[in-house]
Amino acid sequence: MEIIINKNYLEMSKCAAQKIGELVKNKPDCVLGLATGGTPIGTYRELIKLYNQGLDFSNVKTFNLDEYLGIGKDLSKSYEMDQSYARFMHEELFKHTNIKEENVHVPDGLTKNPEEFCQWYEDAIKKSGGIDLQLLGIGGDGHWAFNEPGSSLSSRTRVEKLTEQTLDDNYEAFYKNAGISRDDIPHYAITMGIGTILEAKSLIMLANGQKKAEIVAKALAGNITTDVTASAIQLFNRDSYVILDKEAASRLSKV
Ligand code: PGA
Repeated sequence: MEIIINKNYLEMSKCAAQKIGELVKNKPDCVLGLATGGTPIGTYRELIKLYNQGLDFSNVKTFNLDEYLGIGKDLSKSYEMDQSYARFMHEELFKHTNIKEENVHVPDGLTKNPEEFCQWYEDAIKKSGGIDLQLLGIGGDGHWAFNEPGSSLSSRTRVEKLTEQTLDDNYEAFYKNAGISRDDIPHYAITMGIGTILEAKSLIMLANGQKKAEIVAKALAGNITTDVTASAIQLFNRDSYVILDKEAASRLSKV
């Protein structure tokens, strides 16, 4: 595991985009695992810049980590009112590049049969040759994707109930400003499992800001535990990069 500490969010985002960009350049038909949330937005902005400078995404395949159960991309709604992760990816990255729609995979939050869908998603990842590089954030409760505390470190793609902390975090970050009440936000999600994530060929985990400092320290240097599912990064034995800003790295030496 290589830990890269940057002076601020912009530098962190550039560093991550550079690594993703190198992969796309060296392997134009690579498979990227992508993440949503506030953290990767800067990385996506930098990737869009690389696209505008000539980086070609036309053969890249993508698989997103998760999606809320019960909602899906609805372009008839404003972005603010469409809280699906499929819409997030469309607005923050896909529509600004030449990634082909048929190469993009976000779990289907509107599926009638979540169990069958989750198996299909696992199979689709395998059929694509596996994820070359998985981008990840880390939740306030230490989750990777929606693998909430208590999730098995060998878990596969499945439906997961969101914790109160995740509901609070999501409400503050994405729903409050849209005037959506906390009771109305989705309480379940489809998520790749930790076991699924650990099969990627390489990982980048991003975190920024003081509020992530303690959980980053726990994940990287604390016990490997289902209480902090991102601690599974310590089990990952291929290339992994933890790309942080100074604040998120500030508790690392104190563990
Ligand atoms: P955030 O979420 O990027 O909005 O902080 C991170 C996560 O939940 O993985």
